[in-house]
Amino acid sequence: MKTDIHSHLLPSIDDGCKDIDDSLKALDQAKKAGVRNIICTPHVNCYKKQDKEKIHELYERLKIEANKRNINLFLGNEVLLTNDMIELLKQDMVFSLADTKYLLVEFKRNENRPFEDIVSLLDEVIDLGYKVILAHPEYYSNYRSISKMKILKQQGILLQMDATSILRKYHSRQVVHFTKKILKEKLIDFISSDIHQTEERNYKNYLRCYRKMKRRYGKKQVTKLFENDSIIEEKLS
Ligand SMILES: [Fe+2]
Repeated sequence: MKTDIHSHLLPSIDDGCKDIDDSLKALDQAKKAGVRNIICTPHVNCYKKQDKEKIHELYERLKIEANKRNINLFLGNEVLLTNDMIELLKQDMVFSLADTKYLLVEFKRNENRPFEDIVSLLDEVIDLGYKVILAHPEYYSNYRSISKMKILKQQGILLQMDATSILRKYHSRQVVHFTKKILKEKLIDFISSDIHQTEERNYKNYLRCYRKMKRRYGKKQVTKLFENDSIIEEKLS
């Protein structure tokens, strides 16, 4: 059974599902794709204060619908990591993944600060006591190198790849090429949907990618990446 740690499933809160019907359609597709656990990770950044209460309300509503489909729903955030975000983390303004020490972070796709700055910013987050997961490292065009990824891994950062990043139909040659490289190097810890319920990122394509990867990389490796439920285990322990 698959565990999806990165999804924009909550309705009308970010650029993910646009309304409740959209969310329910996504849940039905998730069930068909064999997903058992989903963490809702709406975007949060330092430019706009998030309404934690509203998010909680939406989450509680959707959780009932998910349970009807035998899916466990959890709450988290996808945190845009900037210098100012450190203060918000200290003030407990964001949701960690399923209320554990795991935190899902991202950078702007065109982030161009020196890589050393990125490393020290991530260190600051680790120092706050978080286990940091970097979302879709394949998207950051300025850091797309195996040696940089190895530095992050040595630092203790976990890497989460988007399932659809192997599809040439939706991504540039560079993204697909790098995705294959990091998979081959076994640098990825989680594969997630990052669903927005768009033409590209939805659970239908997630399942398509799962099957394609299983054929290419073998059942054992792919199952491990899609079914990695270390976060859920920590939540339940
Ligand atoms: Fe995302």
